[in-house]
Formats: sequence, C-alpha cells, structure tokens
Amino acid sequence: MDRIGFLGLGIMGSRMAANLAAAGHPLTVWTRTEGKAQAWAAEREGADAVATPAEVAAACDVLITMLVDGDQVAGVVGGPDGLASAGGSGKLLVDMSTIGPAAAREVAAALPAGWSFLDAPVTGSSPRAEDGTLTIMAGGAAVDVARARPLFEVMGTLVLHVGGTGQGQMVKLINNATAAVNAGTVAQALLVGAATGVDLDALVQVMGAGSGASLMLDLKAAPMRAHAYDTLFKLEHMLKDVRLCLEEADRAGVPFPAAAATRDALVAARGRGHGDDDFAAILEAYEGLAGRRLGEARRTT
Ligand SMILES: NC(=O)c1ccc[n+]([C@@H]2O[C@H](COP(=O)([O-])OP(=O)(O)OC[C@H]3O[C@@H](n4cnc5c(N)ncnc54)[C@H](OP(=O)(O)O)[C@@H]3O)[C@@H](O)[C@H]2O)c1
Repeated sequence: MDRIGFLGLGIMGSRMAANLAAAGHPLTVWTRTEGKAQAWAAEREGADAVATPAEVAAACDVLITMLVDGDQVAGVVGGPDGLASAGGSGKLLVDMSTIGPAAAREVAAALPAGWSFLDAPVTGSSPRAEDGTLTIMAGGAAVDVARARPLFEVMGTLVLHVGGTGQGQMVKLINNATAAVNAGTVAQALLVGAATGVDLDALVQVMGAGSGASLMLDLKAAPMRAHAYDTLFKLEHMLKDVRLCLEEADRAGVPFPAAAATRDALVAARGRGHGDDDFAAILEAYEGLAGRRLGEARRTT
C-alpha cells in the first residue's frame, strides 16, 4: 500500500487523516506547529511525523494538503523545505483546502515536471470529517481522480469528479457562498421573529417542516439562539470563501448581490471579535444592526 503524506492537522485535516490511518493507510504527517504532528502520530499505528514538507514528499508519492488558503498551500509547496524541493516524478498532490480556482491553478503550475495535481475541496464540517462522510469535489485529470479515489472514499461518501483543474474549487466556493447567505438569512429571520414576539420554537419547527427549511436552519438556529459558537467552521474561513467566490463572479462579469451583502455581515461579525468562532456568529452582525440580542426584549443601544 502506498505511503500517504498528509499536511495540515487542523479541525478538518486531523480527522480526515485519522480516518486514513484507521483504514490502514501508512501515513507520514506534518503540520506547522512544532510537536503537534509527532503527538498525533504517536497515537496512531502506521503513522509517523516529520519536521518539514520536503521530508513528507521524500517519503510518499501521494501528498494531501489541508491548510487554510492559497498562500499557505503555495508556501508549503515552494521554498527550500517545501514539497516541490523533493523533486522526482510520478507524485500526485491533492489539495483539499478551499483556496479558490486561481490559486489552485498557480499551485499546479509550480509543481515539478512529472507531478500531477488535483484540487479536491470538501463540504461537511468536522462531524462529517470525523465520520468519513464528507462530500468531495475534484478538479483535474480523470486518471488522477481514479488514483486518489480509494483515499477519497475513506474520507467521504459523495465523491464527484466535477471538471478540470480549479473546477472543484469553483463548485465549492459557490456552495459555501450559498450556505453563508442561508445562515445569514436564518439569523435575520430569528431576529425578526424575536422582535415581533413570535415563539421561536414554533417558528423553527414550522420553517423546518416546509418551504423555509434549510440545512443552515437545522445546524445553526440552535447555536444562534444560545449564542454558543463552538467552532465547526471558523467565521474567518467562511469570509475567505465568500470573498473568493465574489472575486470569481466578478471576473466572470456576474453579480452575486446576496453573497456581497453576506460578506459585509461576516466582516462586521469578525470586527466584533468572532473570527475564530463558528460562522453561526454572523448573527452578531445582524444583532448589531437591529440593536437587539436574541432572547432579550430590550434594545441594546
Ligand atoms: N472546518 C470546516 O467545517 C471546513 C469544512 C470544509 C472545508 N474547510 C476548509 O478546509 C481548510 C482547513 O480548515 P480547518 O477548519 O481544518 O482549519 P484550521 O482548523 O484552522 O486548520 C488549518 C490548518 O492549516 C495549518 N496552517 C495554518 N496556517 C499555516 C501556515 N501559515 N502555513 C502552514 N500551515 C498553516 C494549521 O497548522 P497547525 O495544525 O499547526 O495549526 C492547520 O493544520 C480550509 O481551507 C477551510 O476553508 C473547512
């Protein structure tokens, strides 16, 4: 069995790599914070940790990155200790971070001759990363998707080859911008309900049973009502995705006004100190606009 290199053991990467290890794939791991990869590998059979991305690439032919943005992925690929410095040929880099199509194409172009690249971002937050039930959308050559598919099927349940390099990223960005708009709409609906004296339990139940239903209502209404933003997906990262989607829409000459308004709400929520919280904290931006908090009858200011 090929040894797999996994780089980035954050909320998502640590869980995705754990599933690969549990499925019996020998792993070499690296993550930015010193000592973290060593501690992670010590708890898993068949896993070892190394000090640089270059050492990961020297040990493995299939390399998976799960970092935050394009600059980070480019930084891990390039430089004296980067993946690409290992050289060789026949290696496959699979970037599963959400970095946008332009950055994905730049990373692919920076690889040594004879290496292949897939952009394969995921949807589903940490619970689905943990269960191995992510949705994975891959952009790149069919032959490379076929090579990575057995790994994808350990980490996810719906695995789609959606097009050429960058198309996985574009599908992901459109999905996330839509999810962010939906979450913002749920927050606004809850605030209107609270302000008009509606029973919020009844409102959520009625919406969930009918045309007001959404996955965001199911997942985010309860944390919003409790102001409990335990991080499944950082608000800062959702802001990154909405911004990247708007950049691509702008390049294509197509407006996405709902996403633009949601970007501003995410910026406002981050300004209120919620960048590292779950993006359910978008509620805080709308509470600021309304001058009222959910669950409080009086106006705040
Ligand atoms: N969380 C979700 O629900 C979710 C769902 C779908 C897609 N995504 C996407 O998946 C990616 C990872 O998200 P996450 O939630 O796992 O984020 P996270 O918990 O913040 O983890 C980020 C990872 O990137 C590493 N990193 C941060 N800055 C770095 C740098 N400058 N250079 C090298 N590595 C760096 C971190 O290293 P350390 O381990 O050393 O801290 C960590 O391993 C993002 O692109 C996100 O948009 C997230």
